[in-house]
Amino acid sequence: MPEADSSKAPKNYHVDTPQKSEAFFLKGSNELDWGLKNRLANIFEPSSGRTVMLAFDHGYFQGPTTGLERIDIDIVPLAAYADTLMLTRGILRSSIPPTFNRGVVLRASGGPSILKELSNEQIALSMEEAIRLNAAAVAVQVFVGGEYESQSIHNLTRLVDEGNRYVIATLAVTAVGRELVRDAKYIRLATRICAELGATYVKTYYVDDFDTVAAACPVPIVIAGGKKQPELDALRMAHNAVQQGACGVDMGRNIFQSENPIAMIQAVRKVVHENATPEEGFDHFQSLCAKG
Ligand code: 5RP
Repeated sequence: MPEADSSKAPKNYHVDTPQKSEAFFLKGSNELDWGLKNRLANIFEPSSGRTVMLAFDHGYFQGPTTGLERIDIDIVPLAAYADTLMLTRGILRSSIPPTFNRGVVLRASGGPSILKELSNEQIALSMEEAIRLNAAAVAVQVFVGGEYESQSIHNLTRLVDEGNRYVIATLAVTAVGRELVRDAKYIRLATRICAELGATYVKTYYVDDFDTVAAACPVPIVIAGGKKQPELDALRMAHNAVQQGACGVDMGRNIFQSENPIAMIQAVRKVVHENATPEEGFDHFQSLCAKG
């Protein structure tokens, strides 16, 4: 039992100071449960309201992707510079030191390999397992317009239901099939469907008129990096996305396939968190490269 409070000092209830009640920093997230907000604050940096997620879950459908042959050698040294890791549970358990203490976003859908119809995914992770692995969010691919569109949307809604029960965020990833045009009209459709059906946040591609995509989506959006581009172009894409309303990036190949991944992730951070111009980000990249 604690000792009784026997202090004779007058208590101070600050009766003239109203209790602070601040809005949560992420768009569309104010009504979420405390636990979910706490997890989101481990994905997004509260001071900038943005995130640099490092995506390296590509192996779940395409095996040892270029740049991901050895996660222990290629990726673990980058983890210290990422706000969040997006990966599979197999890689988390086998290769990531448990001392990593920022956000973990676990791939939760899968099934077909690149040899098959990719939209035919099922849920591939239980919420119990996500909790066991201390995940902040689970990620599910949504194939709007794809052959298995409804099935993938059903995967999303089931994970949202389970995630809301255990306050784990759900990241909906809009997947673009080979046959679909990647333009603002399509991306607005896909991202809005994900948000309407309960995704906590959405990952999609940067396109022209991205400001209309961000405006029409009531929850945070992060952009995928996509295919490897020259570093300055990738920094320009990240800059344009955050200036037009994205809450950060979930970047893979443009970081881990860079000639200097550690310099590149730091340059991306400068653009995302410090509003650096693409040129300033690229200067930072070059000076880090020069230092070796
Ligand atoms: C797989 C994914 C990947 O995580 C994603 O595409 C991110 O990586 P990249 O920046 O290399 O596009 O969601 O479907």
